[in-house]
Amino acid sequence: MKPVENNSSIPDDFKDFKAEVKVASPGRINLIGEHTDYNRGFVMPSAIDKKIYFKFRKNQNNNLIRIYSETFEVYTEFDLNNISKSKNSWENYLLGVLDEIQKYGKKLSGFDCIIRSELPIGAGISSSAALECGFAGGLNALFGLNLSQMEIIKLSQRAENNFVGNNCGIMDQFASVMSKKDHFIKLDCDTLEAAFVPAELQNCKLLLLNTNVSHNLADSEYNTRRRECEDAVAIIQQKYAEVRSLRQVTFEMLKEFENEIDAISLKRCRYVLEENNRVQETEKALRSGDLKTLGKLMYASHRGLQDQYEVSCPELDFLVDFSENKTFIYGSRMMGGGFGGCTINLMEADKIDTYFEEVKNAYREKFDIKLSSITVDPDEGTQIIRN
Ligand code: GLA
Repeated sequence: MKPVENNSSIPDDFKDFKAEVKVASPGRINLIGEHTDYNRGFVMPSAIDKKIYFKFRKNQNNNLIRIYSETFEVYTEFDLNNISKSKNSWENYLLGVLDEIQKYGKKLSGFDCIIRSELPIGAGISSSAALECGFAGGLNALFGLNLSQMEIIKLSQRAENNFVGNNCGIMDQFASVMSKKDHFIKLDCDTLEAAFVPAELQNCKLLLLNTNVSHNLADSEYNTRRRECEDAVAIIQQKYAEVRSLRQVTFEMLKEFENEIDAISLKRCRYVLEENNRVQETEKALRSGDLKTLGKLMYASHRGLQDQYEVSCPELDFLVDFSENKTFIYGSRMMGGGFGGCTINLMEADKIDTYFEEVKNAYREKFDIKLSSITVDPDEGTQIIRN
């Protein structure tokens, strides 16, 4: 089906909305470990204290779903018997989740939902995973579907892969659901084993600087990077059958195959192996309170993403370069898929305001674009309140 066209007139009975279930679903940051999740490597994300809020209630109509986004002031309806892709891209996150839940053989009936978001879109803090996981988690509670957290994570990821068309890894959904307040998750994306590392940042805080650009290369280049890595794995597999992903590949293997693997793929693979090592080093630095070392690893991660993986852009590079000689900034790097979005900066908390003024002016002068800032704290994953 095509969902009923967006129509900003909300039904009268939405004015007195008694929610049966309320959900707070967070965005995420990633301290380090970029473009490693789909290569079955390591990542170190956390949910943040900025969220999407949902209210749910059942309605009396078997198949009618009524949704209102307070943030965008749009109202839409879906028919449960007829779930298919919409031309309105934001609806596909929700439709994808409905489709995946139905594929599980879980029974839904008519419901109403109001959504309010404080997450900027396209900033690389994964408003999409927050939307999918919050919606799935809310329906799980509303209809008693008995889905585990892991099932919610995986079905949300599939919703994004299949309905939205982003071939993303598992990091964003995992972080949005599983995070613990004041911790980073060191996630092994091969085994899905998670270690919670205390986010003891001493006199520092994390500042996100939003470039407010989102270059449209992002989706196609993301898929190209995945393919470049997979191509190298396929070559190595011919000799080493035990290799299933870059996770089992060593620097020695890359050397051995350097004449067979295309030079660009080789560069991507080296980056991934190095970034996996940086995540391990970051965990050690964080656990031992060595924030200076942690910051250096963040800079090294950025340079790898810029020069080897080639997913940065002039705006992100400018922000990282600008921070590099400031002693009160320990580390800075682009965050997320790249080609725009935010940098994540580990810096002394009392310098944030004056630094932001300075970098905002310099950024405007250079690109004539407004820079925005978001300070974030690692926070709890999706939270569900049943009334
Ligand atoms: C996007 C994807 C994630 C991950 C990052 C890059 O955020 O959704 O799965 O691949 O890019 O680290």
